[in-house]
Amino acid sequence: MPVENSRLSGFFRHSVAERRRIVAGMANLNEHQVAALGACGELSEEAADRMIENVIGTMSLPVGVATNFVIDGKHYLIPFCLEESSVVAAASNMAKRCLKNGGFHTNSDAPMMIAQLQILECTDWKKAEQDILSSSEELIQLCNSLPSTIVRLGGGCKRVETRLLDSLSGPMLIAHIVVDCRDAMGANTVNTMAELIAPRIEEITGGRVQLRILSNLAEHRLSRVNAVFTPQEISEDGTHENGVSVIEGILEAQHFAMADPFRAATHNKGVMNAISSVAVACGQDWRAIEAGCHAWAAYSNGTYGPMTKWEKDAQGNLLGSIETPMAVGIVGGASKVHPVAKANLAILGVESAQELAGIIVAAGLSQNLGALRALSTKGIQAGHMKLHARNMAVSAGAEGKEIEIVAARLQQVSGPKTQTLVRELLQQLRNE
Ligand code: MEV
Repeated sequence: MPVENSRLSGFFRHSVAERRRIVAGMANLNEHQVAALGACGELSEEAADRMIENVIGTMSLPVGVATNFVIDGKHYLIPFCLEESSVVAAASNMAKRCLKNGGFHTNSDAPMMIAQLQILECTDWKKAEQDILSSSEELIQLCNSLPSTIVRLGGGCKRVETRLLDSLSGPMLIAHIVVDCRDAMGANTVNTMAELIAPRIEEITGGRVQLRILSNLAEHRLSRVNAVFTPQEISEDGTHENGVSVIEGILEAQHFAMADPFRAATHNKGVMNAISSVAVACGQDWRAIEAGCHAWAAYSNGTYGPMTKWEKDAQGNLLGSIETPMAVGIVGGASKVHPVAKANLAILGVESAQELAGIIVAAGLSQNLGALRALSTKGIQAGHMKLHARNMAVSAGAEGKEIEIVAARLQQVSGPKTQTLVRELLQQLRNE
């Protein structure tokens, strides 16, 4: 039930347990709900309290490991953290269908992040732009004067780019600093650099710097992945003939997404089922990744389109590819403080941010194929329902042994498997 008043003065001063008690009282939570919030699993209350403000508890999600991934000739077990059934199974299933041609092949850009400075009120826009460009070396040095591990390790600002925009507020000059973030995601460093050079940019341009913030459209930090799937590998029954028809179905699904943003959004949601889940599992800023992926899906095509590409080669094999921004890090951020994120990175055994980027994008490609293959053949509900049936049984109130029995009975129903039907099945079972 909604609370009567969300203004909680001094809330942040309380301990986590006290905050939880306050919220529980206001929202009328029962003791199980309070205990659920307080049952900090692997993330201690102290660690959680250091991560965000006003902490009242933590929330767990399953971590599952996708198997069969061979990426650039190396085997990986890929941890996914999400609540949706079938995702891990589908990614694992598709990953083994490209092994004849060596699995997934990646190519990731150097970890270059952009930070933007918005410059307003210049009197001569062209001159201001030229002045920034001719002061590039000085600005780069100023950025790199920051005492930072990234700079010490050979990263740091490498170049300055400019763009002139027309906007509702009039002309704007935008300066981009392009920063090599090494193995960090780099948000803090690039934001600090942008703030550091803002006064000097004002001197150079005679304008006023307003926003100083990274861009999540990390167009210099792209990761590309491709894989080849033979008809036999992709088939449902191991035959070449069936594989040819499965490939045709996948291509029709791809063409649908290319022609229709309504479909492209869902197509891309399937890609993000893996990208976001692996990112969460590895302690990455998944919102930044999502923003970058969706922006690129529109910006790179001039119109919103599918993030992946599916084609047929001269031999009739299915070729899958994807190119997308992937701003990830293996040092700093939650990847270094969350114990499970640390464990998940250890499972992957990655040695660089670029390697992690390639893995995440390969998982996205595989996941997308799983969805397209299912959708263009028997539909996704059959696979989805295998695990989801148990969730539906629990939602209907099934307990203990009832859960498996109701789930099994639901699986046997040939028509639509609705929550109403699950409630009826549970009732029948209880009446027996
Ligand atoms: C569901 O989480 C994802 C799909 O909708 C993706 C798609 O339609 O391609 C199955």
